[in-house]
Amino acid sequence: MTINIALLGTGRIAEIGYVPAIQQISDTNIISVLSRDKAKGEAFAKKHQIKNSYADLDELLRDESLDAVIICTPDAMHEEQVIKSCRANKHVLCEKPMSTDYQSCLRMIEEIKKSKIIFGMAYNNRFNAGLRYIKEQIEKDQIGNIYYARAMLSTQQNDPEGWRALGGQSKFWAMSATGTHMIDIFRWYFGEPVDSKIISLSPKYSSPNDEISTLTMNFNNKILCDVTASAILPRVNRIEVYSDTDVIIGENVFGIKTDEKVYHNNKKILIEPISSFFGEVLDFTNAIIKNRSPRSTFEDGIKNLIIMQS
Ligand SMILES: NC(=O)c1ccc[n+]([C@@H]2O[C@H](COP(=O)([O-])OP(=O)(O)OC[C@H]3O[C@@H](n4cnc5c(N)ncnc54)[C@H](OP(=O)(O)O)[C@@H]3O)[C@@H](O)[C@H]2O)c1
Repeated sequence: MTINIALLGTGRIAEIGYVPAIQQISDTNIISVLSRDKAKGEAFAKKHQIKNSYADLDELLRDESLDAVIICTPDAMHEEQVIKSCRANKHVLCEKPMSTDYQSCLRMIEEIKKSKIIFGMAYNNRFNAGLRYIKEQIEKDQIGNIYYARAMLSTQQNDPEGWRALGGQSKFWAMSATGTHMIDIFRWYFGEPVDSKIISLSPKYSSPNDEISTLTMNFNNKILCDVTASAILPRVNRIEVYSDTDVIIGENVFGIKTDEKVYHNNKKILIEPISSFFGEVLDFTNAIIKNRSPRSTFEDGIKNLIIMQS
């Protein structure tokens, strides 16, 4: 079975995340791309040998040979694009965060449930080898009782004139760019927090969105967890997990091209990095073929957003 995919958006993540990942997967093709700008769409299509480019989503979705869309547009556009794709019976892999607020996620979920499509949330970091190593240690119950964990990730999407900073197409900046990934990893490790509290500041550009945020989560009154997301600090990419017996430190464990280093009780762990986008798209296409749930679902999307708003 061949899966024909459309990329909605021609930006950074479409180009450096999805195009190379999909090109590595057999029987999966990018057959179309959506851009607001006809010439830009055509240039992107030509550069990546994509057959069709569209400036109109309805027209793109009318293509009967199209199976699925990957939504790579600003956060505030996800709702309309998801709903239209569901109504056109196209499977959806939606970039994070799911949308900009809780009510929007509820509207999206209503349409997803009405349709028969497979919906995946693009939390690609679940496929990164270093973060999977920690997950495996937790699942094997091999690292004692975890009491504390923290992660810090600064985004390099730090253009104060970009859509994340300006506020029209997004309600979060640092939390959307990186915080949501760290929340996802800790939810994946520890389940649902019983309590969470976020403090945000915008001290550099006075952006209407957060430039730096710190979130604390309480998992089952047993594990305290801190997340710091930033759009204004130099590059930091780190996770730390502490139990009564073990310490795991991961450096450069989040992202597309990772140079992961994981130390477990000071011992360097051998990690074989893969492209997390390759893992994510493969999981999504397998979910379509086997009619099963992908690794991240709309439940992950909305629950993550509830925490982002706490
Ligand atoms: N999973 C990850 O690790 C990861 C990393 C980065 C981003 N993301 C997510 O992916 C989505 C896209 O992020 P990105 O970094 O690729 O952003 P980007 O580089 O700014 O690209 C977004 C694309 O969306 C299209 N677009 C449509 N309406 C737009 C508008 N009003 N303003 C700006 N662009 C508009 C543009 O394509 P045209 O100009 O061709 O229309 C643009 O190239 C976001 O939801 C983001 O949170 C995920």
